[in-house]
Amino acid sequence: MKELVLKAIKAMEQAYTPYSHFQVGAALLTEEGRIYTGCNIENAAYTPTNCAERTAFFKAVSEGERNFKAIAIVGGKDGVLTTYTPPCGVCRQVMMEFCNPKTFRIFLAKSTEEIREMTLEELLPQGFGPMDLKEGDDK
Ligand code: THU
Repeated sequence: MKELVLKAIKAMEQAYTPYSHFQVGAALLTEEGRIYTGCNIENAAYTPTNCAERTAFFKAVSEGERNFKAIAIVGGKDGVLTTYTPPCGVCRQVMMEFCNPKTFRIFLAKSTEEIREMTLEELLPQGFGPMDLKEGDDK
């Protein structure tokens, strides 16, 4: 858990944030124990901005990963971690695509000593996911 937070803090250094100056880093752990990191990448047109969590997920998925265990997220203005940074709604939905909401763990951290832990289901109750598109399935 602390290793994941440290990797998220390190990933935050690469954040490209000329507009908000709010830097975010994420470290995503696969079921097999591999870690993929990501930072937020902003854009002059604003809407193409990619959050740190999605950067980590898309890096991992594009490398063939499909099974995820946990993600650590850190963020703050100019990279200073004064508050916890919860994932935005779009990132929660991306997590929903690839993770079991009951077991996928999300760590929000301010440091390696200050970590809040929750499941995806807690952050996205009644989320819509791949199972909802399966026919004849009472889930
Ligand atoms: N951001 C993330 O990277 N992850 C989040 O969960 C919240 C928001 C980024 C997007 C934007 O670059 C900056 O933080 C301010 O919204």
